[in-house]
Amino acid sequence: MTHANPLLAAINMEVSPTTGPANTQSLSSNAYQSIRQFIYQEAGIDLGDSKQMLVTSRLNKRLKHYQLEDFEQYFKLLSQSDAERQMAIDLLSTNETYFFREPGHFEHLRTEVLKSHPKDRVFRLWSAASSSGEEAYSIAMVLDDFFGRRVNWEIFGSDISSRIIAKAKAGLYQAHRIDAIPKDYLSRYCRKGTGQYQGFLLVDKMLREKSRFSEINLTRALPDVGMFEVIFLRNVLIYFDHSTKEKLVRNLVSKLRPGGILYIGHSESLKNMDLSLDLIAPTTYRKI
Ligand SMILES: C[S@@+](CC[C@H](N)C(=O)[O-])C[C@H]1O[C@@H](n2cnc3c(N)ncnc32)[C@H](O)[C@@H]1O
Repeated sequence: MTHANPLLAAINMEVSPTTGPANTQSLSSNAYQSIRQFIYQEAGIDLGDSKQMLVTSRLNKRLKHYQLEDFEQYFKLLSQSDAERQMAIDLLSTNETYFFREPGHFEHLRTEVLKSHPKDRVFRLWSAASSSGEEAYSIAMVLDDFFGRRVNWEIFGSDISSRIIAKAKAGLYQAHRIDAIPKDYLSRYCRKGTGQYQGFLLVDKMLREKSRFSEINLTRALPDVGMFEVIFLRNVLIYFDHSTKEKLVRNLVSKLRPGGILYIGHSESLKNMDLSLDLIAPTTYRKI
């Protein structure tokens, strides 16, 4: 589907311009190992030994698009084209997210963290690996609700996937994905689409203006993003091996102010890592 409207285009952006079903090419074990190595080097994502089906189903449309005969040819192309490398990263990363996912963190933020923030300093929060922005905008609703005009705040969202960052910037979501937004927030912070936006919801302009998104690979040296009071680093650590995880978390912690808070996903752990963090609640850490 193509849209003249850039907001709808961002929402519906299909990563593959293919038409019709792809003829599925099989993935040899050599080609799987090459692609596994590629995504590990590029994004730190460890696919393990048994994700052949996932790789085949996600990348097959690219073979069809380029009319390639096998994954070996596609792998060659990957080493020659930056654009195709980004496309493969987009396709191989999992972007599942939704508003107010793992709600305990939002409650902790509201009841334990925000109240002690001094009025004269901007409250800065990083949604690292933000996916399409639902996490960042959920936080934005909580911050506006709590701080009102008393404290200035800003959210920085980042992800490795350029496609998903475009969606986050648009702040436009399919209406069926908003079930977990509290009713009060829904009426205050979300605009129901009409006309060409029928079936969509647009996050309030003020919240979008206070939320900035950028493409960042967390496994590489971090750009100068400044310091943060809080970092959400949720449901991304599961894709990395222990040493990648430890290095990455240490880098992120260096961007937290002393006493700052780090939230990780409920199925993730920072066990056996030498980090200057205290565990203060499940999956919630305070920088020492
Ligand atoms: C499952 S989503 C989690 C989104 C959100 N934090 C949440 O908990 O709902 C994981 C995100 O991590 C991103 N990701 C994977 N590897 C990454 C990397 N090396 N650097 C930055 N983001 C990465 C993916 O693109 C994806 O959007």
